Amino acid sequence: MNLYQRDLICTQDWEVEELEAVLDLAAKMKRDRFSPQWTSILQHKTFLMFFYNPSVRTRQSFECAATELGGHAQFLEPKAMRLKTATTAGETVEDAAQVMSRYAHGLGIRILEDKVPYYGAGEELIREYAQWCSIPVISKAHDKYHPCQGLADAMGWAEWFGKGPGYPANPMVLRGKKLLVTWGHGALARSWSSVQEALLIGSRFGMDVSLAHPEGYDLDPQVVQWTQENCAANGQTFTETTDVRAGYESAHVVYSRHWMSPQAYRDGEFHKQEEIDKALKYPQWICDAEKMALTDNAIFTHPMPVDRGHEVTDEVASGPRSCIYDVAENRLHVQKAIMALTMAEA
Ligand code: CP
Repeated sequence: MNLYQRDLICTQDWEVEELEAVLDLAAKMKRDRFSPQWTSILQHKTFLMFFYNPSVRTRQSFECAATELGGHAQFLEPKAMRLKTATTAGETVEDAAQVMSRYAHGLGIRILEDKVPYYGAGEELIREYAQWCSIPVISKAHDKYHPCQGLADAMGWAEWFGKGPGYPANPMVLRGKKLLVTWGHGALARSWSSVQEALLIGSRFGMDVSLAHPEGYDLDPQVVQWTQENCAANGQTFTETTDVRAGYESAHVVYSRHWMSPQAYRDGEFHKQEEIDKALKYPQWICDAEKMALTDNAIFTHPMPVDRGHEVTDEVASGPRSCIYDVAENRLHVQKAIMALTMAEA
């Protein structure tokens, strides 16, 4: 298997064996974090990090990952460049991407809901960079997917169902476990990227998947179809419900997160305040101890930042079955593995 120079825009683009290879290397890197085996892998190499939106975990974990592999991560913002946009003159993606490829060995891009005029525009931009770059392009979260988060999620869940938190585990332990991805109310009008990636990667690794949301909060039909197909290919089931409690029954992993409705974009604009006002009308859609009691002793997962008091109660988010910090830590190990495999033929 050779992942050198491969783009990572959505985990569904990669074979399961390729995703397993990332998690296997990430587990080795986690177990022996500063081994000389890894610390020069990116020597003299730079990862360009292009951020349209703010970040805590993604920026910090990629910067730390590059440092730990002996390379460098360079932070870039659109305002520091002169790029052509729909409304301003400037440099084309074709030119910028080809020049970046002459300097660096990898390019990461984050572009989320409020920086695009319609759903899918962020994905189009990333794929345009990938078309012109001769270096790998990694999504650092865009309007459709968040592949690094999905891999870190799967690694964290596998650890909890393997030897326990912190002990690297084979993702095959997830087979047959039930993943509930449930909408949570909140004031952040979040994109679909993390939850869609969770549905895809959970179903790829053989989980039984349940999706729960109020009427009017459907996700991308293509993602739902892929999730159904992934579940069927693994002999598992996919269910979708608008009942706030039903999905919790016998769940092993509960993923509660707010996401915006498909009506968020109209006339080339993102109507954030409307989304917030609408979402706050569903206070019953919160993950709390009473709902977690319906599960099969499920773990609580979230990509963070957590909207405490809306998506989940403090009691659950900070409780003994919460894996949120393990998953956040795994962003570092997973991204080290991705960079090593795609930027350096590790
Ligand atoms: N989960 C995640 O991507 O976090 P940040 O937005 O802080 O990077």
